[in-house]
This record gives sequence, C-alpha cells and structure tokens, in this order.
Amino acid sequence: MNVLITGGAGFIGSHLTKLHLKKGDYVIVIDNLSTGSKNNINELLNNKNFKFIHNDVLTFDFKLLNFNLNLIYHLASPASPNHHSLISYHHLAKETMLVNTLGTLKLLELTKKHQAKFLFASTSEIYGNPLIHPQKEPYFGNVNPIGPRAVYDEAKRFGETLTSYFWNKEKVDARIARIFNTYGPNMRIDDKRMIVNFICQALKDEPITIYGNGKQTRSLCFVDDLIDGLFKLMINKNTKSEVVNLGNPEEHTILEYAQIIKKLTNSKSEIIFKEPLPADDPEKRCPDISKAKKLLSWQPKVSLIEGLKKTINYFKNIL
Ligand SMILES: NC(=O)c1ccc[n+]([C@@H]2O[C@H](COP(=O)([O-])OP(=O)(O)OC[C@H]3O[C@@H](n4cnc5c(N)ncnc54)[C@H](O)[C@@H]3O)[C@@H](O)[C@H]2O)c1
Repeated sequence: MNVLITGGAGFIGSHLTKLHLKKGDYVIVIDNLSTGSKNNINELLNNKNFKFIHNDVLTFDFKLLNFNLNLIYHLASPASPNHHSLISYHHLAKETMLVNTLGTLKLLELTKKHQAKFLFASTSEIYGNPLIHPQKEPYFGNVNPIGPRAVYDEAKRFGETLTSYFWNKEKVDARIARIFNTYGPNMRIDDKRMIVNFICQALKDEPITIYGNGKQTRSLCFVDDLIDGLFKLMINKNTKSEVVNLGNPEEHTILEYAQIIKKLTNSKSEIIFKEPLPADDPEKRCPDISKAKKLLSWQPKVSLIEGLKKTINYFKNIL
C-alpha cells in the first residue's frame, strides 16, 4: 500500500512511519520540520520504500506526487501547549489554525481524488475543560472559542467538522482519532511538555518543577500503544465515519509522575512547587476508551514504568 503521512517527521508521525515500513508499505512523509525533526527519520532516508518531502502541507502541490495513494494520515500540526516553548501552538498560532483547517480540507480533497482512506489526528483538547469524566466520544466539550487554547482546540474542532462533512456528503472513507496525552522517544526536548521536563530535569539533577500543588491528574499513553490504535483505526473494516478516543485511562497525579521519574533516573533532584498553575491547565482529563476496546479490540499494553524507562533511555542518549 502507498501511505501518505503528513507530519511524519514529528514525534507520533515518525513512529507511525516506521510501523508502516515494517508492514512492507511504501511511505511518503510530507513535513515542513516546523516542530518535527529530521533526526526522527534520518535512519529511513536510504530506505527504498520511503520518500521524504520537506514541504508545507498548505503550499505543496500534491499533483507532483506520481503515486496512487491508499492511506492518508493527517498528523501535521504543532501540538505542544506549553507557553514557554517556541514550538507550541501559542507561538505558531496561525500555522496551527491553518494546517488543521485548510490543510485538512486539502487532504480530504486529495483523499477523494485518490479514493483513499483518511485519518484525521484530532485531540482530547476538543473536549476543552470537560465537565464530565471520563470523556466519551458523544460529549461535545466545553471550549472557549476565544480562550487561551482556542487556536488549537477550535482548529481541531473545525478539522473534525470538515472530516465529517466529507464522510457524510462526499462519501469519503474517513475517520477521526481523538488522541489523548502521549509520550515516548522522539519527543523534542524544547517542547517542554511535562514528561520531557521532568525527565530532563531529573537526568541533570536539577530541581523537578511542578506548577500548582501537583494534585492535578494526567493520563498518559505510551507512543507504541497509540500508533497501534491509529493503525487499527485506519485499517479495520468497521471504522469508516467513526470518531474514537485513543489514550490511556490510567490516571496519576503530576506529583506521582515526578516521584516515579525521580526514582527511575536515580536522580538527586528535589521536587519543587511553583505558582501559579497556568490559567488554561485542565485539572483533569481522562479518556473513556470503551469504544476503542469494542470497535478496534484495542487497549494500551505498555505499563507506565516500562514506557517511562524507554523514554528515559532515549533522553539519556540525546542529552
Ligand atoms: N502528542 C500528543 O500527546 C498529542 C495529543 C493529541 C493530539 N496530537 C496530535 O497528533 C499529531 C502529531 O502530534 P505530535 O505530538 O507528533 O507533534 P509534532 O509537533 O512532533 O509533530 C507534528 C509534525 O507536523 C509537522 N508540521 C506542522 N505543520 C506543518 C505543515 N503546515 N506542513 C507540513 N508539516 C507540518 C511538524 O514539523 C511536525 O513534524 C498532531 O496533529 C497533534 O495535534 C498529539
């Protein structure tokens, strides 16, 4: 099969690319490297089944592709919510809004032309600051259209609307993955998401900083589990026009993550608390994955300790 992965040089996209290459597919990655890294795909550049196009989804002329595409995954988008990161969607606000809206439209039209299958990488952020826990797919969310996270949340929400329009009216074979917090090797050090911060601080024996009192909970999915879910959602027969949460429902407090990482790295770091908690930081977000279990026979398999050990090893090698 010929597979197009936008954002394939990013954290999640690079793992998905490797999975499809392992399955014997031909994989084309288009990525402008705005938040991804060529390091994530360097080892693939000589693979005859792999083609890297360093370009922007919004401006690239897809007519230049001389391939009949079978599967199209749209993952291209800044994803870090951290205000302090230059690669966050706050700093790349217009880019984030456009790639998830006009970019999604362009890729859906391409999918239609190729009679391919399409997967839109949406996010748990479409639930905003949720009023019900855990979140099931029919929940509409609680999002402020002009709030601090709106450039990402609302662009993803409109990306979902476009995708559903194409499956309803244009009969395109499409599906939506609502991805919850994911971690693992190939995350960027400078994206400043919690796990990366904690691991890097612990490895350097610097103070591990927690914003707020550390009682906020997070549920984190290891990337190998996530891409297994994305793959099944794309490939399985009964997934057309479906919206599916993919994440790990196991919840821990932020303080627990800090303590576990400190222990696994044998770090001398002390854990310190800083105020204030960012205004837009959700107290709690946790997926209900009963639909994924039923529809895809999928659930996360990698334990937190195993996933963290692999991630810590990755950062040990690049620090
Ligand atoms: N990582 C998570 O926890 C998480 C959670 C929910 C949703 N998601 C979604 O999954 C997808 C991948 O996220 P990630 O964590 O791998 O992020 P990432 O930043 O590592 O990967 C995104 C990739 O898209 C590329 N890109 C951005 N804009 C582009 C454009 N206009 N043209 C071409 N390439 C472009 C970037 O260079 C990068 O390589 C995103 O759509 C994100 O919104 C991720």
